[in-house]
Amino acid sequence: MPLIAVASPKGGVGKTTLTAHLAALLAAKGYRVLAMDLDPQNALRLHLGVSIRDEGGFLAHLSERGNWRQSLRHTDFGVQLLPYGAADPAEVLDIQTALAQDPGLLAEPVREMLKDPELLVLVDSPPGPSAALASLYPLIDHMLVVLLADGGSASLMPQIVSGRFMGRGSLIERLAEKSMVVINQFERGAPLPEAVLDLATKTLGHRLLGVVARDAAVMEALASKRLLTEGGRGAAEDMAVLADAFIRRTQLRRPGERRSGGFSALNEWGA
Ligand SMILES: Nc1ncnc2c1ncn2[C@@H]1O[C@H](COP(=O)(O)OP(=O)(O)OP(=O)(O)O)[C@@H](O)[C@H]1O
Ligand SMILES: [Mg+2]
Repeated sequence: MPLIAVASPKGGVGKTTLTAHLAALLAAKGYRVLAMDLDPQNALRLHLGVSIRDEGGFLAHLSERGNWRQSLRHTDFGVQLLPYGAADPAEVLDIQTALAQDPGLLAEPVREMLKDPELLVLVDSPPGPSAALASLYPLIDHMLVVLLADGGSASLMPQIVSGRFMGRGSLIERLAEKSMVVINQFERGAPLPEAVLDLATKTLGHRLLGVVARDAAVMEALASKRLLTEGGRGAAEDMAVLADAFIRRTQLRRPGERRSGGFSALNEWGA
């Protein structure tokens, strides 16, 4: 527990970059983090320092119903990783069809991961609707939606608040209430980004969790197999602030920290 999903109706906004940084920043603070890639681009592993030649993974072999533990990679950032794995386009379509027909194919192993009370599972997802992410909707505790400070993102904000970018119904509305938004690649002082951020504060209210600056250091770090977790200004500072805000907002507990409140009998009855 818990399950945290990073998602967006838009592509190329920084979902994978933020997933990798959040995972590494939380691990550095003493959390036990399992990062899982639901995106067939299979890129999360590259952000976490796994070799491009390592093509193993979890989702790509989902139909074989193997043990997810066998696909785990231990990264240099203290994060355990389940890469998507290499899959050709026909295989990706087969996986999507299988997941649409049987969400338990992914939900069951994830349920098993979540039984570990000290493990925090953080998933990176492909842009837009995805059968993999949809199969986890009932299990997600916190959703981090990534947007840019541009016109396209501004037009999507009402759909983020309503949850319509994920679908309809009570399950989706419940998930939308748990959604938080990050505006990434923000350029301070530029007229359009500033106007979009003003709109975001009005439309999203408390859902706006943080803002991360556009910073060439992000791309440079990826190209040299690093993450911006050592502090500094710009995006590094913003991502550290974002991780702290996320911990506070979600009341994330480190291993050994005690849970407060809740309905104790329900834990037993639901076992
Ligand atoms: N704050 C930032 N400043 C500058 N560049 C950034 C920032 N965040 C992400 N990028 C760059 O933007 C590009 C897209 O980032 P990333 O791959 O994380 O997005 P994504 O949402 O996961 O994309 P996709 O939808 O394809 O999965 C990458 O080249 C990344 O290095
Ligand atoms: Mg991505």
